[in-house]
Amino acid sequence: MDIQFELNGKSVQVDVPEDTPLLWAIRDHLGLTGTKFGCGIGMCGACTVHVNGRATRSCITPVSAVANSAVTTIEGIDPSHPLQAAWIKAQAPQCGYCQPGQIMQAVNLLEDFPDPSDEQINAVMSGNLCRCMAYIRIKEAIKLAAGEMQKEKADG
Ligand code: FES
Ligand code: FES
Repeated sequence: MDIQFELNGKSVQVDVPEDTPLLWAIRDHLGLTGTKFGCGIGMCGACTVHVNGRATRSCITPVSAVANSAVTTIEGIDPSHPLQAAWIKAQAPQCGYCQPGQIMQAVNLLEDFPDPSDEQINAVMSGNLCRCMAYIRIKEAIKLAAGEMQKEKADG
């Protein structure tokens, strides 16, 4: 079945069974491997992408569910997004495997809570697991990015 959607701003089409997980459509059929497979059951967040701007677990989302929608993967996040620099400054990743999903979730977090409290960060990020236990540095990176975004806003 041909399914069309927008991927990182470009129209794409895949010819796959309609219940194919979006994750495999993105990785195997469209060649973008930044989005990772962790658990396959919606419990770890490694496969997080945005569908119409909201964090979505691509391992449990059939590709047919995103027909005519806008999907963004880690490859589609603006390299100048403050989270990117903050992630490097805080040296957030260890093995790196969970990090694309963490960043996708964090983008939504900062859209919803531009100056997030620890509680808000914990609540929004709690579904993104990190087997390397980089949670403290991930939180630090989120706060650094939030500070930078507040500064950019104040500077106009
Ligand atoms: S691989 Fe999708 S939530 Fe774990
Ligand atoms: S950095 Fe290794 S799983 Fe998170």
